[in-house]
Amino acid sequence: MKFFVDTAEIDAIKELHALGMVDGVTTNPSLIAKSGRDILEVTKEICDIVSGPVSAEVVALDADTMLAEGRKLAKIADNIAVKVPLTWAGLQTCKALSDEGTMVNVTLCFSANQALLAAKAGATFISPFIGRLDDINIDGLELIEDIRTIYDNYGFDTQILAASIRSANHMSECAKIGADVATAPPGVIKAMANHVLTDKGLAGFMADVEKAGIKIL
Ligand code: E4P
Repeated sequence: MKFFVDTAEIDAIKELHALGMVDGVTTNPSLIAKSGRDILEVTKEICDIVSGPVSAEVVALDADTMLAEGRKLAKIADNIAVKVPLTWAGLQTCKALSDEGTMVNVTLCFSANQALLAAKAGATFISPFIGRLDDINIDGLELIEDIRTIYDNYGFDTQILAASIRSANHMSECAKIGADVATAPPGVIKAMANHVLTDKGLAGFMADVEKAGIKIL
């Protein structure tokens, strides 16, 4: 499973990228607003760090303006994936940009039917939002499973990009289901390293290091 990092914070991207943990980046208007940076400028900076797909989201609601925005975003770098919402206008934009050879990430997906439409419209990525479904007591992971089944049934090559990931547990569950990509905030990716028995085991080893005076350097 590929790891995308869900942030527009340059330092966090650089830190994870140096460890080989970043196969791509996703942003959205809220993350861009949080960064306090100009969207074109910060997106270019991210594309200079990461060679994999970098999602940059349109902000218009109608298809003509979305397409114009998408074309402008696509000019930032070769690895831009234009992110469009899963609306009818978003699907029209997805089809037009995909036909032009631009990668498209269709976002705000909350149902298997929406994912089916995105695949038909030629999406490179579909972004089902797990956490926001869990927030309203609908099992977000079940949606990932359903989309995996549907895409495999018909050989769609749209990649399932599990999004709105809120916990390390979501990451391993997505990997078990067979999501192609999971995008998560830097804190969630780092939290994957944590285990209470690792902490306990290390404390025990350190006590023995102290007791026996073990030194390596
Ligand atoms: C990713 O593409 C989405 O923008 C992001 O994962 C949304 O996450 P949230 O529901 O935690 O805001």
